[in-house]
Amino acid sequence: MESIIFSGNIAQDLERFLASKRYSKLGVIADSNSFSACYPLISEALPEHSYFSFEAGEINKNIDTCTKIWQWMTDQGFDRKALIINLGGGVTGDMGGFCASTYKRGIRFVNIPTSLLSQVDASVGGKLGIDFNGFKNHIGVFNIPEAVIISTTFLATLPLPELRSGYAEVIKHGLIRNANYFESLKMQGWESQNWKDIIEKSVSIKREVVEKDPKEDGLRKILNFGHTVGHAVESFYLDADRHLLHGEAIAVGMIAEAYLSKKLCGLSTSALDTITEFLLFVFDKIEIPAEDLEKITQLCFQDKKNEGKVINCSLLRRIGECDYNIPVSSENIIESLNFYNTLKK
Ligand SMILES: NC(=O)c1ccc[n+]([C@@H]2O[C@H](COP(=O)([O-])OP(=O)(O)OC[C@H]3O[C@@H](n4cnc5c(N)ncnc54)[C@H](O)[C@@H]3O)[C@@H](O)[C@H]2O)c1
Ligand SMILES: [Zn+2]
Repeated sequence: MESIIFSGNIAQDLERFLASKRYSKLGVIADSNSFSACYPLISEALPEHSYFSFEAGEINKNIDTCTKIWQWMTDQGFDRKALIINLGGGVTGDMGGFCASTYKRGIRFVNIPTSLLSQVDASVGGKLGIDFNGFKNHIGVFNIPEAVIISTTFLATLPLPELRSGYAEVIKHGLIRNANYFESLKMQGWESQNWKDIIEKSVSIKREVVEKDPKEDGLRKILNFGHTVGHAVESFYLDADRHLLHGEAIAVGMIAEAYLSKKLCGLSTSALDTITEFLLFVFDKIEIPAEDLEKITQLCFQDKKNEGKVINCSLLRRIGECDYNIPVSSENIIESLNFYNTLKK
């Protein structure tokens, strides 16, 4: 597993960490936002280094940007002993880690995640990669960073919708693995959280699950709760005027899949109500036109190996306990989206 450092003073802790490492050259990869908001917080702590910055956005998590990164590494004369720092959200971590893992058959890298989503989710678990010809995370590798250094300081500049998007994964962690954690989240106003405690808790849940099943043969699938329907909603709205952030789509997905959990997996009605109420408190209600339900449902079945009319979902038995490989039909999914549509915020 990766070693995770929770930092109370990012500049100081990074300086100390780098002093303990031997490397030939140091490079920093950031996107345009993390470069302007986060790089100034660490630049003085960095020994001699070069940096590469690319335009922010999922759309740039592609092979063209990788080519530029590999060219920059080559121009800088990075050898097998070079060390890369990925400073940014999940896009930077996934793509920077992928480029480092493939350059000269792999050089070491450190992740400094700067969005809530990347701190609680993307930077843990060793999945790296890029999008390819419209397929998300289609090309990639599993590889473990030298370290992940997490500091809540960076969250101060993160736009509120991005913070909330990451919070969807936090809620998911409680729902799939720890009822007390979910309960404690409900008790607090979500914007004024004690982020340090939350990130530590969420990371420990993700790590525990990944440690038991690193390659997603079984248990790791529970991290996909909310993501079967959520990803379909996310893809559907990619083309729409109202673009949804990942966590906003996953919030819809978690409500729909909580409904399926009740129908197929024994989740109680009161638990479904609790989950629905909390998610609608944190996230806006999306209007999904009835005529689009069929298309969204079809998207749930795309690119999956289980051909035909059945898809395997991760569903809740109760709050804090999730099961996986539960077969779900397209009729079930339409019904769950209809349930979502009837809800009032
Ligand atoms: N590897 C994994 O296991 C895993 C898990 C979940 C998600 N992901 C991937 O992560 C990506 C989503 O991550 P994300 O939400 O962090 O996206 P992101 O990297 O695009 O960051 C979101 C936005 O916030 C900006 N930003 C980041 N930190 C900032 C800061 N401190 N101040 C100001 N702006 C800041 C970014 O520039 C970007 O505009 C997706 O590509 C997804 O596939 C990977
Ligand atoms: Zn997610």
